[in-house]
Order: sequence, then structure tokens, then C-alpha cells
Amino acid sequence: MKTILITGGAGFIGSHVVRLFVTKYPEYRIYNLDKLTYAGNLANLSDIEDAPNYTFIKGDITDAKFLEDLFAEVPVDGVIHLAAESHVDRSITDPMSFVMTNVVGTVNLLNAAKNAWAATGGVSGFEGKRFYHVSTDEVYGSLHNPDEFFTEETPYDPQSPYSASKAASDHFVRAYGNTYKMPVVLSNCSNNYGPNHFPEKLIPLMIHNIRNNKPLPVYGKGENVRDWLYVVDHARAIDTIFHNGNLGETYNIGGFNEWRNIDLVNLLCSIMDRKLGRPEGTSAQLITYVTDRAGHDLRYAIDAHKIMNELGWEPSLQFEEGLEKTVDWFLNNQEWLDNVTSGNYQSYYESMYANR
Ligand code: NAD
Ligand code: TYD
Repeated sequence: MKTILITGGAGFIGSHVVRLFVTKYPEYRIYNLDKLTYAGNLANLSDIEDAPNYTFIKGDITDAKFLEDLFAEVPVDGVIHLAAESHVDRSITDPMSFVMTNVVGTVNLLNAAKNAWAATGGVSGFEGKRFYHVSTDEVYGSLHNPDEFFTEETPYDPQSPYSASKAASDHFVRAYGNTYKMPVVLSNCSNNYGPNHFPEKLIPLMIHNIRNNKPLPVYGKGENVRDWLYVVDHARAIDTIFHNGNLGETYNIGGFNEWRNIDLVNLLCSIMDRKLGRPEGTSAQLITYVTDRAGHDLRYAIDAHKIMNELGWEPSLQFEEGLEKTVDWFLNNQEWLDNVTSGNYQSYYESMYANR
């Protein structure tokens, strides 16, 4: 039996990865380690929380001693590391929390895994083990030439405190692979969207505000471009790379699906008008251009040919279909959205797990 530690499993992407692994691999033991910050929500996993192969552990990856004790107690074969501070705007106002979780937390996790695995036989203790770091395409910086795409060879050029912290953690993971021969693998993915997305990010924020007739804040002129991928397709890619990716390698993941922010917001307005029975054009009147984000990256676009050609992964959903599913999910899960925006879920789960 394999024992897999997934960090950040109560967050947006992590919850889809946990669900996929718990349901697809009943023979694995899945541990979900999450601090339950404002972005972590166990309601994202209520459908699988009683599965016999699933255990939730509340904990903080910035706490090295906690991780050391955890690895002494749980015989971890594989780590899939997603825990992070993930929002660029927050990183601009509070960079240090990104350094702590994304950099210090990742190095703590590397140390805990390395020491526990090496204790079972030095470098041979690494056999059959795997440390997978889930990262972002934002480490490559910003594209300005429309013919350019991020490949695995694109030099790192992070522009925000968030992407700088993720770049640093990527470098540490590769350094541990090189220096200590740890079995590491990495991926860098484009912007995700889908169910469980925290409504501080563009797509869920717009859905929430359209529904509530609130202004739709578009940064700058709305001309920045992002490459969107349905979150379940990212979880499928993580499954593929965790099992079949070559050690020491990096895989870019993306949907070949670029949208200017303003075009995407207009598309969401039109979908929402139809779903809410409003005359076409009603929601678009809520669009409000606001001051641009400091240092706003112009364009991200991923060349995902390596994972497609070498590992046979490809996106399964067209964007329009994925967006319809996403809008339906948010409209059908108003309580989730209300809880998340009011912070109720946090106090509820904090008291639930206070004495663990
Ligand atoms: P998220 O913010 O929704 O979730 C992050 C999770 O990590 C939360 O559950 C939170 O409670 C947990 N966490 C935060 N600090 C922690 C700590 N100190 N100890 C333990 N747990 C902690 O993030 P997400 O959007 O699901 O992103 C997950 C990962 O994927 C991140 O590493 C992010 O950099 C990467 N990524 C995200 C995207 C995207 O579009 N969202 C794209 C590519 C890569
Ligand atoms: P976001 O979802 O925060 O992801 P990221 O910054 O990691 O790409 O933002 C996506 C794009 O949408 C980005 O160009 C910033 C823009 N944006 C807005 O225009 N308004 C908003 O309210 C938000 C949250 C983002």
C-alpha cells in the first residue's frame, strides 16, 4: 500500500487532487495536511471525508518540528505539495507570509521528507519515493511577443512577490534533487478555474459580483491575458506526472486557452444574463475599470507539448463547457459562497479541530 501526503488539500486545486486520489486509488492511504488558512475549506471535501483511505491532518508547514514528528509517525512514500499562499494581490500587501509558507514551508517539507527517507538507508532510502512540487507558470514572468509561449526551458523571471516565492521554492526543490539526489518532480501550470475556487480570484469573484449586482472590478484596461485550464484537468495532469513523470523533470501544464480579461468578463456576463433570466447586456453594465495591479504581468501562455507528447495528457474540457459547469456550480452552491465570503466556515472548522 502506498501512503501519500498531499499538502494544501483543503484549498481549491488541492481538494480536486485529494478527491481524485481518494476515489481513483482505494489501495492508497491519502493524508491531507492543511493549515486551514482563509483559503482552506474542508467543505470542499465533504463528499469524501469518511472514505476509509482518507485522513485529514491540521498542521502548518512552517513548523519544522511538526513535520519531523509527522514523518516519524506516518510512513510517507510520496508527497504532492500544493500548500501555498496563492493570491498575487495578497502577496503585494503581505509578501512575508508568502516567504514563510511558500519558501520556508517548502524547505521544511523537503527536509522532513529527505531525513525520514534517508533514515531508512541513505540514498537507497529514496527508492520508490517521490516528492512532487506543484507550481505556477508565473515563475516565467510576463510575455510581450504574441508568438511566444512558456516552455520548460524559459528562464525564470518572476515579477510579483507571489511568483518570486514560488520560483524560490522551485529552485529549492531542484537543488534538493541535485544535491541530495532526492527523487523530485515539478510542474508549472497556468491559471485554473472551476468549483471550490476562492472568490478573491478573477472568475469566482466576477460570478459572485454579477449575481449580487455588485461592480465588476477590471484592473487597468482589461487587456492582460491569462491561459485558463479547468481545475479537474490540472488534477488529472498531477495524477499523470506523479505516476509517470520522469524524476528530476519539469512539466508545463496549460489549456492552450488564452483570454483577455475583459473578453472573459464579458463572456461571464453574457452566460450569467442567460442563467439568471436577465436581458442580454444587463450584467456587463456592472463592469468597472479600476486602478491596475502594481507590476501587473501582461500575458501568460503555456506550451504544454511536453506533457502531451511524453505522458499522453491532454485537457478534456473546452473552455465554454468548463465555464458553464463552473457558473452552474457556483449558482447551485450559494451556501458555500456565502460561508466563504462571511468566514463562517473558518471559525466552524477551527473549533472542530482545535484539540487535535
Ligand atoms: P489555495 O489558496 O486555494 O489553497 C492553498 C491551500 O494551502 C489552502 O487550503 C491553505 O489552507 C493551505 N495552506 C496555506 N498555508 C499553509 C501552511 N503554512 N501550512 C499548511 N497549509 C497551508 O491555492 P490553489 O489555488 O489551490 O493553489 C494550490 C497550489 O497550486 C499552489 O502551490 C499554487 O501556487 C499552485 N498553482 C495554482 C494555480 C491557480 O490558478 N490557482 C495555478 C498554478 C499553480
Ligand atoms: P487572478 O485570478 O488574481 O490570477 P493571477 O493574478 O494569478 O493571474 O487574476 C487573473 C487576472 O485578472 C489578472 O490579470 C488580474 C485580473 N483581475 C482583475 O482584473 N480584477 C480582479 O478583481 C481580479 C481578482 C483579477
